[in-house]
Order: sequence, then C-alpha cells, then structure tokens
Amino acid sequence: MSILAIDAGTTGVTAIVVSAEGAIVARGYQEFAQHFPRPGWVEHAPEEIWQATIEATREALASYDGELTAIGITNQRETIMLWDRETLGSPRRAIVWQDRRSADICNRLREDGHEARVTELTGLRLDPYFSATKLMWLAEHEPNTWALVESGRYAIGTVESYLVSRMTRGTWHVTDVSNASRTLLFDLTTGDWSDEMCALFGVPRDALPEIVSNWGEVGVSDPRVFCGLSLPIAGLAGDQQSALFGQTCFEPGEVKCTYGTGSFILTNTGSTLERSDAGLLSTAAWRSPDGRLTYALEGSIFVTGAAVQWLRDGLQIIGSAPETEAIAATVDSTEGVVFVPALTGLGAPHWDPEARGLLLGLTRGTTRAHIVRATLEAIAFEVRDVLETMPSLSALKVDGGASANNLLCQMQADQLGIGVERPRIVDTTALGAAFLAGLGSGVWDSTDDLRDTWQLDRRFEPRASREQADAGHARWLKAVERSKAWA
Ligand code: G3P
Repeated sequence: MSILAIDAGTTGVTAIVVSAEGAIVARGYQEFAQHFPRPGWVEHAPEEIWQATIEATREALASYDGELTAIGITNQRETIMLWDRETLGSPRRAIVWQDRRSADICNRLREDGHEARVTELTGLRLDPYFSATKLMWLAEHEPNTWALVESGRYAIGTVESYLVSRMTRGTWHVTDVSNASRTLLFDLTTGDWSDEMCALFGVPRDALPEIVSNWGEVGVSDPRVFCGLSLPIAGLAGDQQSALFGQTCFEPGEVKCTYGTGSFILTNTGSTLERSDAGLLSTAAWRSPDGRLTYALEGSIFVTGAAVQWLRDGLQIIGSAPETEAIAATVDSTEGVVFVPALTGLGAPHWDPEARGLLLGLTRGTTRAHIVRATLEAIAFEVRDVLETMPSLSALKVDGGASANNLLCQMQADQLGIGVERPRIVDTTALGAAFLAGLGSGVWDSTDDLRDTWQLDRRFEPRASREQADAGHARWLKAVERSKAWA
C-alpha cells in the first residue's frame, strides 16, 4: 500500500513513492527548460512537463518494486496552458505564474473599476500572477488560437489538469478548488466557477475543467501512456495547499512556509473565508469529498529559490544551490550589500508587478560570498515581511528545498524572533499529494493518522538580538522601496 506522488513544480518534476508509514521510499527528479522569450515573460512547453513527469516517475519506479495503490498530483499553480482535446498536443507554450506580460491588462481592468469586485468574489487581486489575465492576453494577441478555445477544440487548464488529461489519454478534464481558486475565475463562496468572472475576463466556461474534490478517485491512468501504470488518480492539489496538507496543518491557525522557486506562507482558516487588508490573498485550501471547503490566507513571495537559481544560471557565481550555505558562511555579514530579488516583480505584501531586482551597497571589497549571503538574507526578510501581516506565531513550520539550508533557517529564526521548525521530510509538497491520494484510496482513514507521521528534524532558535535583526530589516525595506516601479 504505497502512493506515487508527482510534484510538477516550476523548474522540475519530482516523483516520490510514499509508504503507508508516511516515509519516502523512492524518488525521481527531472528538470525542464525555462523559456524567457522577452524580459518579464516566462513560458514552459507542456510536452516537456509531461516528458519530465514520465522521466521522474521512471526513475522513482526503478528503485521501487512494491505495489502501488494510487497516484497523487500536485503542481505549480496559476500557470495556464491549452491543449487539443483530441490529440492532447498544445498549440503554444504555457504562460507561467511568474510571467508579467498581462500587467497592462491588469492596469486597464483596475482603471475600469473592476478590482474591488474581483477581490470580493475571488479573494485575489488584479496582478499578472493569476491565470485569467494571461488568458485575456492570449485572446487579444493570438486570436486564431483563441478561436479554437471558443469553438471547444482546445481545453484550458492548470498543470495538474493537463497531467490528468495526459495520464488518462484525454478522458478527464478536471481540476480542484486549490488550483481553481488561483485563476480569478473561481467564486470562493459558492466553490464553483463564476459566470461573472468568466464574462469579465472573456473566458468560455465550457473550456474550463470540472472541479472535483481534493481526494477521492478522479480517473485511472492509462498504462499505454504512463509508465505501464493503471492506477486511480486519487489526490490533486496546488503545491502550496498540498504543502499545507503535508505539514498536517489541518486546524485553523496552523501555518507553514515552503521555500521553493518562490516562498509561500499559508494559514489554515478553516471554514471561514478570512480577508486581509495587508496584501494577503484569500484562497481555497481543499475540499473534502463530502463538499466541506477549507480556506487559507496566503502570502505569496515570487522569487526566493529562483534567486539562488539565478546566481547559478544567470550570474554563474555558484555551482549548485546547496553550496550557498558554505559560501555565505565564509563571511560574517554582507558588509552592507542588500539584494532585492524582485526578478519577476514583487508579490506579497508589496505587490508591484513593475518592481525589478536590485543589488545595493556594492564596493570594491564585495565578493560573491557577500552576494550569496545577501540572497539568503533576502529570503528571510521577504518571509518576515509576510509574517508581520499575520497574527503572531510561537513557531514557524518550514519545508521545501531551501529549508535544508541551516544558515537560512537560522537567519529566518533571527528575523522572526521565533523558533523555526523543520520536519524530517522537507518534500512536503509531494508528501501532501501522497496524503491526499492515500486518503482518497483508503491507505489512511483520516487526517489523524497523517498527523502522527509528522516528525521534527530540527528547531532553530533565534540567536541575534532584536536590535541587530531589526537594523538589517530596516535597511532591506529601504532597498525594497527603491526597487519599485522600475520596469
Ligand atoms: O503560485 C506559484 C507556486 O505554486 C509555485 O510553487 O514550488 O514551484 O515555487 P513552486
């Protein structure tokens, strides 16, 4: 009784096999290409995501020879793609959540007075981050393609929806509330697509997937196309909600922070749709098969791990992400260097799609160690900015790739002035998808069984004085102001 969980993230696909005890017993990973056709634009080829899913799964299966019970899928959210319902081929690349091309459309809609209603219905804001303005851009700039969306030939979906279609050879076109609630087309109160929002953004409702619950069988994978596997797909969720589930934050008030390409802090708010006036989003966390909807408040930070990736691939001053811990530790401080990694604008709580990255305080003595350290500090500052808009916590549960970085966790504890708790399994996003699929296929009976699997690896206590932490943070905030409205 094990689960195959697929985490189709922004830069790669992870496949893990999770045992009934909640342990990861096999793993595979495959990166895929990032396309940057213009400054501020980010695209992925759907076919490459599908191939990476197959490769990662093959790698995981190569080191596992037991039985599998079900598949869970989690994914980078908001990224929107089209595919032909017959051939499953895509007419163009996906427009990724980080892509800023619809900033002008957002401004136009805002000037026309739509933002308040959009926020009221969807819990989101008019920012290019979300899917619907990307679709509006497609309709305006690629009318021939869009005509085939309107005629019913092309399906619209987020990444999990596409993967389900590929795995089931086009039999299923589904999504779940956690993904639907990131599109700007989902009514948070009714838990369904909003005709009003579909009309505002010009998206035909028929082209959208059916919304299913987050656990329970939604279809069966076809062994002819998916690694010889004929398994029920029994869990779906957007990656941040999946991580909230994987961290067993089942009760209102429980919070997690995932360090991935970006960093996302989510608080479970239970059955209450809470709203923030400090830049947090209201969003759906999950819906159980009995129809109960759980909500969350979210602080979305766009670029954290992606800044480290940029040090590696763009600046080429590091060889790999894990190296950052040792390189940053060769200096005691950044010597005044501040890096604002607004490489795709700023998300919560600042929200400025026109902000751009900034490196300040460079001198003749600046080395890569200072820049690397400033990058880790920036991640800790960004997370602090979001947590300052939430009720105070006694400790923060962290996960995701960069949570393996002890120096970052220490910086985070210092900035927040509270303990930072890292679980044994930091692949919490994929783990959450396994939990959902396991609940949906009877491997686990209830969330209580899952809670028992959470184990602490290490707790980081704040060491820096408040004065020291606040001085660094104040300098960061000044730099953030300078990064705004640059594009
Ligand atoms: O909202 C975007 C988010 O889902 C991307 O997550 O893990 O790829 O940084 P990640």
